[in-house]
Amino acid sequence: MMQIDVLSLFPDMFTGVFQSSILKKAADNDLASFHVTDYRDFSLDKHHRVDDYPYGGGAGMVLTAQPLFDAVDHVTAQAKAKPRVILMTPQGERFDHQKAVELSKEEHLIFICGHYEGYDERIREHLVTDELSIGDYVLTGGELPAMVMIDSVVRLLPGVLGNEASPIADSFSNGLLEHPQYTRPADFRGMKVPEVLLSGHHKNIEAWRHKESLRRTFERRPDLLENYPLSEQEKQWINDWQQAKKNG
Ligand code: ADE
Repeated sequence: MMQIDVLSLFPDMFTGVFQSSILKKAADNDLASFHVTDYRDFSLDKHHRVDDYPYGGGAGMVLTAQPLFDAVDHVTAQAKAKPRVILMTPQGERFDHQKAVELSKEEHLIFICGHYEGYDERIREHLVTDELSIGDYVLTGGELPAMVMIDSVVRLLPGVLGNEASPIADSFSNGLLEHPQYTRPADFRGMKVPEVLLSGHHKNIEAWRHKESLRRTFERRPDLLENYPLSEQEKQWINDWQQAKKNG
């Protein structure tokens, strides 16, 4: 079972997320355990403060090292596996599917969420193993990024999604976006489902899906193709699509 600890000043934000849908099911089935710790409880300051003014002056406050170091010590005291200690920060490495796969293989993840303010540099240097960002924008805290990462990691754990095969066809998992999908009816207001999907011919269906997956990636996320090993046939298709685009 994967152990997931979150260190946050706003633990209530996590209740809805951990107690609904797939994450709740994962916990109920003992595939993952979620625990949120309010690190204010670990502050040795008599007013339970967790931040202070920056040395050298300037605007804003800085999270102090002590409550976070003590909170990490606390959640790792009984731990068997060496945890990944992950700091939520817009300065971190960009989180993506590949990172989700990497984290899904760990036994214990600790997510540290700051709020409004900066981190004392000693937290970055001596407490955490990773610094991750969910994108080039700044949020009011690390709670939403932690939820995003936890959701995408937990759905990859074996047995979490009902259909074992479903994460395999996901967008990104093979380096391409997912192909278009259709369901009944075959004709909706004159808008028809591609013939091949109704044919029952599995090989042709697979071939169509792969080509459409590639086409969609070419149209929407050509950057993903930079690292994708293209076959000669695939290069030819892309050439054709490029020509078609030029000719309007
Ligand atoms: N904290 C604030 N903004 C963030 C972001 N984009 N990613 C991760 N943590 C954050």
